[in-house]
Amino acid sequence: MHILLETGHLRLRQFQMDDVDRLVELDSDPEVMRYITFGVATPRASYVEIYLPRWFEIYARQPGLGYFAAELRDTGDFIGWFHLRDDRIEPDYLELGYRLCRSAWGQGYATEGSLALVRHAFETIRAERLSARTLERNLASQRVMQKCGLKFGGRFEYPQDVIGGRSPDERAAVKYALTRPEWLSRRD
Ligand SMILES: CC(C)(COP(=O)(O)OP(=O)(O)OC[C@H]1O[C@@H](n2cnc3c(N)ncnc32)[C@H](O)[C@@H]1OP(=O)(O)O)[C@@H](O)C(=O)NCCC(=O)NCCS
Repeated sequence: MHILLETGHLRLRQFQMDDVDRLVELDSDPEVMRYITFGVATPRASYVEIYLPRWFEIYARQPGLGYFAAELRDTGDFIGWFHLRDDRIEPDYLELGYRLCRSAWGQGYATEGSLALVRHAFETIRAERLSARTLERNLASQRVMQKCGLKFGGRFEYPQDVIGGRSPDERAAVKYALTRPEWLSRRD
């Protein structure tokens, strides 16, 4: 099992095909999916046939990038995942993302894992720019971005076919970003 990195409480490791049930269970909580699919769960077949194979390809093609399972170091419990991947909207950015089980919320884990990935992006991958996006209503996710030093970079609207929201208001989203010079100056 390939471990990407460890933090005070977390271990981030590559996914394997036998993680499929953990992923399906995570996405079966409508509260977890509230600001992602408006509560709709992900079918098991999507993980088996589409997402996990796509993530394995990223591991092979782009070492150090991809989707990483988050486990508590103490217990080994799976609590969700983080990603650091090519930004599909703006290709000269790496995009940070996260999705945690409800039982793990409110303990600083999203911030802890994200801060480690921000450091990994700039120190190991030598990225120039990092982005993160979320629906405007997802205040917890925005707060994580802010706590990781990302700055507000503007509003946009997800197209209906991407996110499935009913009204433009529901699809309203925000981008946050951090550049290498900003990150370097923040560490001084
Ligand atoms: C977003 C998410 C990853 C946050 O995880 P977490 O481990 O609880 O995050 P942290 O504990 O590191 O930080 C959360 C921050 O948001 C704040 N927060 C939580 N709910 C909030 C709300 N409704 N409004 C405003 N702030 C909120 C917390 O108080 C905390 O900030 P603080 O430390 O200044 O008090 C988690 O809620 C989650 O997985 N949600 C479902 C999936 C998702 O929406 N992913 C993001 C998609 S872009």
